[in-house]
Amino acid sequence: MFLKNSWYVAGWSKDYQKELRAQMLLGERIVFYRRLDGLPVALEDACPHRKLPLSQGLLQENRVVCGYHGLTFDCTGACVGAPTQRGSIPKRAVVKSYPVVDRYRLLWIWMGDPKKANPDDIFEIENFDNPEWGYTDGGVLPIECNYLWVVDNLLDPSHVAWVHVTSFAGSGTDDQPLDLEKTEKGVIVSRWIYDQPPSPYYKDLVKFEGNCDRKQHYEMCIPGIALNKSVYTPPGTG
Ligand code: FES
Ligand SMILES: [Fe+2]
Repeated sequence: MFLKNSWYVAGWSKDYQKELRAQMLLGERIVFYRRLDGLPVALEDACPHRKLPLSQGLLQENRVVCGYHGLTFDCTGACVGAPTQRGSIPKRAVVKSYPVVDRYRLLWIWMGDPKKANPDDIFEIENFDNPEWGYTDGGVLPIECNYLWVVDNLLDPSHVAWVHVTSFAGSGTDDQPLDLEKTEKGVIVSRWIYDQPPSPYYKDLVKFEGNCDRKQHYEMCIPGIALNKSVYTPPGTG
């Protein structure tokens, strides 16, 4: 079961181009493409006639032509061409369309009632436009398991001392107790670890010498967005 009335990340915006791309999200088959003006489109990936995936058809400018009998759909999912039935377009031949928005270099899709889709509700990435902050390009990591196992892992700083020995581990990650906080959008598991050397990964990133106060902040926000913060401050200031 999934939360439908929510914005989900479909993928990196750059991976959606002016070509048909099939993807399964929340158990629904979806075909993505970009219009000539670059705006993204997401339609149900099944022709209403004989259910051929529309992703196996052709993209002609802003329209998708089914690869079985040529029914043609615009980017709202309306049928706008039926070559085998000259002059009459079947009114019931409609495919579902999904609201999609490019933001933060990601493509977001609303999986629920389209009338409730408000782009202002997209998860906010703080400081994204702040020139004093940077970002790195991420990839995509397909994991063959129920997504709740990933949610569990990303809310679990207690595994760090054993799994991430050469990167995020360090004194205190094995036995410092964790704080749990419920928020409006989800839950935060965190802890401060005081006056310890930085972990190997952060050693060269921290802008001061010696020990640190360190915070591990693992946050999960509805519907499944993980926010992981690592804070290092001089000892006594955390
Ligand atoms: S299955 Fe698409 S037009 Fe027939
Ligand atoms: Fe991990």
